[in-house]
Amino acid sequence: MKKKELLSMLLILSLFLFLKGSMWVNANDNSPPAEVIINNTGYLKNKKGAVKFLHERHVKEYQIACKECHHIYKNGKNVWKEGDAIQKCVECHSPIRKKGQKPMDLMHAYHKNCMGCHKKLAKEGKISRSEYKKLRKCNSCHAKKTS
Ligand code: HEC
Ligand code: HEC
Ligand code: HEC
Ligand code: HEC
Repeated sequence: MKKKELLSMLLILSLFLFLKGSMWVNANDNSPPAEVIINNTGYLKNKKGAVKFLHERHVKEYQIACKECHHIYKNGKNVWKEGDAIQKCVECHSPIRKKGQKPMDLMHAYHKNCMGCHKKLAKEGKISRSEYKKLRKCNSCHAKKTS
């Protein structure tokens, strides 16, 4: 083989390894989804329709930090930091409600997180009264139930 050919083969090989490397990184990162359809199963009664949550808009437009919604608690403190894995809420918060359970059941975890923030920001005047009036209605989050 000529020297030139060998060189270009090496180049192609290293390019291949480089691409493979970055693909591996992509498959394992925790880049946030653009939107999430929240539609868990396991509730005693599934009363309400699915919730379409505009994830990217909350992060980019509303400038909300990951830690406002994602957490890993250690000794009562949220120690989640950028790059840490993200688990689904249901992996820790059970859809079935039991008395005194900790952490709280799934519906209350979502309602406290989502509505808690909207309410707080409305109080602080960061969400307008008229916007908040719409936002607190069940159907601003829940789609009409289809089944
Ligand atoms: C700010 C958004 C938001 C608003 C407003 C909201 N919810 Fe929810 N709710 C959620 C999310 C998110 C879930 C989790 C859905 C899932 O796990 O599939 C949920 C879950 C539930 C569940 C348990 C799942 C089910 O289908 O049975 C019930 C019941 C429920 N909500 C009732 C209500 C009612 C009644 C209202 C109005 C008084 C309301 N929600 C307003 C976001 C909201
Ligand atoms: C306003 C609340 C909120 C903020 C802010 C937020 N997230 Fe999320 N994120 C959610 C919810 C809710 C889900 C859906 C969880 C579920 O289905 O159980 C989710 C899902 C995800 C998922 C998919 C998890 C899975 O297994 O399906 C990733 C990854 C993620 N978020 C990363 C991030 C990162 C990184 C940031 C910060 C740049 C961030 N999120 C900010 C609420 C938020
Ligand atoms: C790895 C397990 C785990 C995951 C995943 C998880 N939680 Fe939690 N969450 C906990 C624990 C444990 C607590 C109780 C912390 C305490 O009170 O010390 C908690 C507490 C909460 C609280 C109460 C916080 C407060 O200020 O009172 C809310 C609300 C909540 N979680 C919502 C969510 C939502 C929404 C998601 C998904 C986006 C989620 N959690 C994912 C474990 C988890
Ligand atoms: C830490 C604060 C915070 C949390 C947590 C949060 N939101 Fe919001 N949300 C906002 C802000 C800010 C707006 C913009 C309101 C406005 O238009 O002024 C908003 C707007 C919305 C809107 C209307 C416009 C849009 O983007 O679709 C919906 C629906 C909504 N949120 C659903 C949710 C749901 C569902 C969750 C929980 C999974 C959630 N939010 C959690 C701060 C929050």
